[in-house]
Amino acid sequence: MSKIDVLLGLQWGDEGKGKIVDVLTPKYDIIARFQGGPNAGHTLEFDGIKHILHIIPSGIFHKDKDNLIGNGVLVEPVIFKQEIDSLESKGINAKQNLLISSKAHLILPTHRLIDAVNESHKGKDKIGSTLKGIGPAYTDKVARTAMRIGDIVGQHCMEIYNKLKENHIRYIKSFGFDEQTFKIDDLSLTEYEQKWFNSLETLKQFHIIESEYYINEALNSGKRVLAEGAQGSMLDVDFGSYPFVTSSNTITAGVCTGLGVAPSRIGNVYGICKAYCTRVGSGPFPTELFDIDGNLLRENGREYGSTTGRPRRCGWIDLPALRYTCMLNGVTHLIIMKIDVMNCFSHIKMCDNYEIDEKITDKVPYDIVTANIKPVYSSYKGWQQDISEIQTYEQLPEEMKIYLQAIENKLGVKIAIISISPDRKNTIYKETI
Ligand code: GDP
Ligand code: IMO
Ligand code: MG
Repeated sequence: MSKIDVLLGLQWGDEGKGKIVDVLTPKYDIIARFQGGPNAGHTLEFDGIKHILHIIPSGIFHKDKDNLIGNGVLVEPVIFKQEIDSLESKGINAKQNLLISSKAHLILPTHRLIDAVNESHKGKDKIGSTLKGIGPAYTDKVARTAMRIGDIVGQHCMEIYNKLKENHIRYIKSFGFDEQTFKIDDLSLTEYEQKWFNSLETLKQFHIIESEYYINEALNSGKRVLAEGAQGSMLDVDFGSYPFVTSSNTITAGVCTGLGVAPSRIGNVYGICKAYCTRVGSGPFPTELFDIDGNLLRENGREYGSTTGRPRRCGWIDLPALRYTCMLNGVTHLIIMKIDVMNCFSHIKMCDNYEIDEKITDKVPYDIVTANIKPVYSSYKGWQQDISEIQTYEQLPEEMKIYLQAIENKLGVKIAIISISPDRKNTIYKETI
């Protein structure tokens, strides 16, 4: 009987989850997404080619592994088909090893319109959503009015669709807009609906399964399963910087509800963070930099969104936030990404605590959105050298080891992996996992 290991982001998303899932996939039989949807953009790089996945798990490039879209995930048929087509153009046929839960929910075209309406209505307070329909689709799920993958092969598919669409249009009109006000990827609702229904036909050709049985039977028979998180823990709907969050539980607990596995079956938890910090969209970011260092992180790290292309906000590593997310997730191993981005820095800062109203705290406050948080920094000497040829932990520059050791000591969690480039081959193991 095996346990399910979990890999998830500890910051505000885009930590590099896609790369590490791909690197770890050979050790597993099944890779499973448990929450989120096409708001995610997971980048993988190997053999000089870059791939970006949104809904499909990052194990898909390994032909002999199963990839599962769990019940907690939202599927948008048009984006799903685009991903399938893009994989096919690269010689990957996902039909054999991609499985979809019948209980996963669908994003309808009108969910995407509602996302646009809600953001437009919020004006300067907007969340900075990816506008993929995530919030409205999860709202319908919780309201018990939504459409699930299992419905697309049933007799009542059109009935459910039309009822939802009708409600959505009524909602849109209540804001003084109509279904023509916003476009979806530059298409009118009618044009996009046509694409959506065509894509639904593609979706129907995949293995639609009762994935909670599949995953538990796999674990019972000793198969190794890795759950792949999307977004980051600071975007979790319960514990993130609310309301500037996504609409799902991005933390380890989400694995239980998003795949149907019991808490006692959780094994290792790999927590991923960048050696610095980024955030895309609105909301608090205590260590954000508005100076040349912030620009350097953005340019060296090519910090532009994988889903929307928006520039990511950049800042120093934030230990109060990481301490919080290590606690929430039960992180057993840390994975530090993109340390190469700081190669040119002569000094690097690390936020150890926050100062709020002249009091020092190592905790994330309830009112993170409105509190006047001043980061309390310690400073580390940079290594100022190229590290691209390095293959072992021992070979890393001493200054970098001091910085990494400080992260380990201050968080009380061991670092297992250090990533030094986007490519799967530039991955350094500090501990065997
Ligand atoms: P994810 O959403 O967590 O999978 O992360 P993204 O793919 O959105 O963003 C991470 C970005 O950093 C991608 O462009 C990766 O190719 C890139 N990346 C991953 N690891 C490293 C690394 O160690 N060094 C550098 N320079 N880039 C990396
Ligand atoms: P990956 O999996 C970074 C952010 C959006 C916005 C907020 C809500 O690639 O790490 P939503 O579309 O969910 O309504 O947006 O969450 N966001 C992400 N930021 N990486 C992601 O995913 C994100 N998914 C959503 O920018 O601020
Ligand atoms: Mg991303």
